[in-house]
Amino acid sequence: MTQQSTDAGDLMSLCRRRGFVWPSFELYGGVAGMFDYGPTGFSLRNNIVDIWRDIYKRGEGFVEIDSETVNPQEVFRASGHVDQFSDLMTYCSVCRSPFRADHLVKDIFENPDVLSPRELDVAFAANGIGCPECGGALGPVEEFNLMFRTTIGPGSSRVGYLRPETAQGIFVNYLNLYRYNRDKLPLGVIQTGRGYRNEIAPRQGMIRMREFNMMEVELFVDPDDKDWIRYPEVKDRTLTLVPNDTGEPVVMTLDEAVGKGIIANRVLAYFIHVTRELLVRLGVDPDRLRFRQHLEDEMAHYAADCWDAEALLSYGWTEITGIADRGCWDLSRHAEFSGTDLTHFKMYDTPRETEVERIKAKRRELGPRFKADAGRIASLIEAMTPADIVGGRLVLDPDGEALEVGDDLFEVVTVREKVSGERVVPHVIEPSYGLDRIFYTVLEHAYEYDAAKDYAVLRLKPEVAPVKVGVFPLMEKDGLDEVAREIHRSIHSHRVEAYYDGSGTIGRRYARMDEIGTPWCITVDYEALEGEHKGTVTIRDRDTSLQKRIPIGDCGRIVGELLEGKPFDAL
Ligand code: ATP
Ligand code: GLY
Repeated sequence: MTQQSTDAGDLMSLCRRRGFVWPSFELYGGVAGMFDYGPTGFSLRNNIVDIWRDIYKRGEGFVEIDSETVNPQEVFRASGHVDQFSDLMTYCSVCRSPFRADHLVKDIFENPDVLSPRELDVAFAANGIGCPECGGALGPVEEFNLMFRTTIGPGSSRVGYLRPETAQGIFVNYLNLYRYNRDKLPLGVIQTGRGYRNEIAPRQGMIRMREFNMMEVELFVDPDDKDWIRYPEVKDRTLTLVPNDTGEPVVMTLDEAVGKGIIANRVLAYFIHVTRELLVRLGVDPDRLRFRQHLEDEMAHYAADCWDAEALLSYGWTEITGIADRGCWDLSRHAEFSGTDLTHFKMYDTPRETEVERIKAKRRELGPRFKADAGRIASLIEAMTPADIVGGRLVLDPDGEALEVGDDLFEVVTVREKVSGERVVPHVIEPSYGLDRIFYTVLEHAYEYDAAKDYAVLRLKPEVAPVKVGVFPLMEKDGLDEVAREIHRSIHSHRVEAYYDGSGTIGRRYARMDEIGTPWCITVDYEALEGEHKGTVTIRDRDTSLQKRIPIGDCGRIVGELLEGKPFDAL
């Protein structure tokens, strides 16, 4: 695969020309950070989603849901986004252009997104940084919440937000999902859909969009068992890590990384590995892929450990996936804000003897006070737990009327009991895939300008290519077109995407297919109709331009075999 850096402008122009993506609302001058997918791009994107789904649903046994994109404010108060999901921004005091403040000092500080507003103000003044557009003085740095705010229903009483991540839709459905999973952990849930972030100044094409697509995975695990059953299968695989203590890339095995405490636990390590496998299967160049650990002060408000899968693009090293151990943050917060128990009852393998605090009624005091009722009151007292004591008193409800009793009538005692389990708040491991950034990376890493042909070829993996095979009659006459249409139909009947093209020179038709990454083209020439090669057509390989003759009736089967991985040479 080519290592040459791809010019983002050339690639984006191919994307427009060949129907991958178009800037949205061009008719009305466009809106920064918004893109629409054209037919080829949408097919490629769907193929990426299908492979992700294949790995998580069929490979790991996760379940998939689809939740709302507009959420009431309560969800994002609980998740922390209302208070903390902001970037720092500044306006030019002259031309009023907005800027992300940390981006203006990225050449001066290694990790500018940890700087406070005041530190950024000072950095601008100390380094003579002005407006990149007009040179004017920059205004004071301030926080800007990235969520799009709206109201639900008429009037403005019910505030809502467009979700900035699909993850919260899984957390707010946790109880339904947990019950669906018959109250068991681990529980893996995936969701793909739109996320919305009102990015301050989107300037890097599809890397920073205001409406984007995510493929998120939330794995709920026992906090005391952060292992994964398939970890032993992969523990000796290597990958490039950039740990936060050195900031230097190092190649090591997963087991070394976990053993040295670089990756926090085995389940996180396993899903870092799964992410690498997925990205490479999609066509991300392994030599331009690394996993960088977040610095302590860089982690999101919810993260206990976090790694970014970064791809080397024409924009530099760019995050395309975040893999976080979110700890118990989300479920604890939603439990607290909704007043709902979201714990999991974890059964021990064998009951454990343990010391527990219980409330014991003082029966000697109760007798004279409650006479015949004393036994019943004692039972009510002993059904309470120490957590129910408020200011030394318990509130009972013997006959539908509150009865308060003081600690002269009960005591807290420590007893040894056999317990069969305990309640825990599940922890969450989250690989969060930015679909558009992955889509763009797959294109950039597949893009290669072919000097001999004088056009760019997309060397997409067949599995992700939007069209698997182009079918051309040499001429649209003499029955060649009928044979080609029959082949086209037969390939479609194998549920494989094929494209019929009967116009222009064959060279032009090959070029069109090469530019959208079509791995094979079948051409029906006159030899198909008569002579020594009667009944056969040519099939051409995109990457080698090699051609072979294959029987007309076998086209569907042969394309299927190539898609399964059969080498072209072996045809
Ligand atoms: P960045 O630091 O680049 O803003 P982030 O750390 O905020 O990204 P996450 O919150 O971890 O990103 O989001 C998960 C994934 O979603 C990212 O790895 C990225 O691929 C994608 N993503 C995030 N923001 C955008 C965006 N504005 N446009 C396109 N994709 C995005
Ligand atoms: N769900 C990860 C993120 O959007 O931050």
